[in-house]
Amino acid sequence: MADPKTFGIAGLLGWPVAHSRSPVIHNHWLAHYGIPGRYVLFGVPSGKLEAAVRGIAVLGLRGCNVTTPHKQAIFPLLDRVDDLARRIGAVNTVVVEKDGTLTGFNNDGNGFIQSLRDANPKWRPDSGPILLLGAGGAARAVAASLAAQGAKEIRIANRTLDKAKEIAGAVGPAVKVLPWEQREEALDGIAMLANATSLGSAGKPPLEIALERLPKQAVVGDLIYVPPETPLLAAARQRGNITVNGLGLLLNQARPAFNAWFGVMPEITPALKQAIAATF
Ligand code: ATR
Repeated sequence: MADPKTFGIAGLLGWPVAHSRSPVIHNHWLAHYGIPGRYVLFGVPSGKLEAAVRGIAVLGLRGCNVTTPHKQAIFPLLDRVDDLARRIGAVNTVVVEKDGTLTGFNNDGNGFIQSLRDANPKWRPDSGPILLLGAGGAARAVAASLAAQGAKEIRIANRTLDKAKEIAGAVGPAVKVLPWEQREEALDGIAMLANATSLGSAGKPPLEIALERLPKQAVVGDLIYVPPETPLLAAARQRGNITVNGLGLLLNQARPAFNAWFGVMPEITPALKQAIAATF
């Protein structure tokens, strides 16, 4: 890790990046812990990724986050990628090591799981079957992280069945693939329901799912945070289920990244949540 007394820079590589809340989070922590540094946005179009990644260590950055469209493309440009990020097939965090080499991680799935555990400390990934809706990049991060944390049965229902099968192949036998039409039957006996589709996000149709079969003690998570309460979360909350939106993922994936870059494991405080809420 770089000398903590020098001005530390980290940032986000992506295109577009203007909408990102990551600067609010990391700059809040830098100020809170009195660490000299700055988190900045780097708008890097696809064709320029290699040049940008070569510059990370040269310019003295502590590391960076990676978002669309670079999460897969960055693999061959890194010196090493940890096992979980490999299974997820995407990198969201890069750390510059002492010797200037670059290591890739993916904290998204673990961040989401942590936010569910914070909301319901009785729930664990191995508490019972999980129903995961969707099979895009976000779903894959959640499925791989759940399996790595001991989940025994992850039911994935997705409109395009082949994409769910691909996740099963990458993650292993804990994943059971289901057609989208069977999502309501698949609620039977679950301990956790997660929406990793884009349905229910601002401007998209709601996720249609009747919750009659959802056990009352199941925790319900949605990776969406705009709006802060999707119709799914509202319906689940009204039935008495504990619910969690995607802001928890955003905040919790940032903690280990900040620690790796700046040497402090930061806390998620009400003031930080307020700072994020103020950006909507
Ligand atoms: P991300 O990278 O955030 O996961 P994505 O890869 O675009 O985003 O994935 C979006 C998810 O929402 C997919 O699971 C997609 O289903 P398909 O794999 O069949 O495309 C799901 N999704 C989007 N619109 C949907 C709809 N109208 N009905 C059902 N699923 C939908």
